[in-house]
Amino acid sequence: MELTIKSSYEEMSKAAAVKVADLLNAKPNAVIGMATGSTPLGLYKELVKMHKNEGLDFSQVTTFNLDEYVGLPVDHDQSYHYFMHENFFKHVNVPHQNIYIPSGTTKNFKAFCAWYENRIKECGGVDIQILGIGSDGHIAFNEPTSSLSSRTRLKTLAKPTIDDNSRFFEKREDVPIYAITMGVGTILESRELLLVANGKGKADAVAQMVEGPVTSMITASALQLHPSAHVFLDTESAGNLKMRDYYEWIQAKKPGAPKL
Ligand code: GLP
Repeated sequence: MELTIKSSYEEMSKAAAVKVADLLNAKPNAVIGMATGSTPLGLYKELVKMHKNEGLDFSQVTTFNLDEYVGLPVDHDQSYHYFMHENFFKHVNVPHQNIYIPSGTTKNFKAFCAWYENRIKECGGVDIQILGIGSDGHIAFNEPTSSLSSRTRLKTLAKPTIDDNSRFFEKREDVPIYAITMGVGTILESRELLLVANGKGKADAVAQMVEGPVTSMITASALQLHPSAHVFLDTESAGNLKMRDYYEWIQAKKPGAPKL
């Protein structure tokens, strides 16, 4: 796992955006795995800026989102369809037909999930998967005890996740309790992973992901199994890392890094 620790959320988001832009410049028809949540918003803002100011081109890009709530229509302001459109897609030039987001309103979840997995394969697999992390250490909606080889499926959300996400809904009862989510196994097949985290609230989850055992109790710990996982943190979310000095040493001494 490669860690990049930045002094602020903005700096962290910029560094993560550069990683995505580098890939896009090298491979204009890249397949990008998208994530929702408040954390990647800064990263999306930076990518939009690069698109508008530097001509970063998404015209050949294909995207696959990680997850979607079950039961919310695509135009519901808390659906991940709506989130992605408002915060990213309406500002860049990803062709409409290249955007894939799990359907939360399908009548046949099993068939839809199998189709989604297959579509990822048909498009050549995900080149870089953007990820956030839940305060209980989950990625996408792979709640604690999700198999580390799980695939795209219908998932019942854990109570802490429902509590966390209730801030976006009028009442806690309005938060959907089911989601369709890519599995941990699906995510691990992406050629690169890019996880962003910020704030004190994520410090425990981040420490367990990086330094704890690989366990389905913290599904983000599966990143330890991936050969090309990049984690972008701000100083607060890095606050509980025991070996933080070492990670900062590696960051500073990386071949090509500016001399201290
Ligand atoms: C939800 C999403 C995850 C996201 C998490 C944290 O559970 N399914 O993909 O990482 O929320 O969201 P936030 O970035 O708002 O803390």
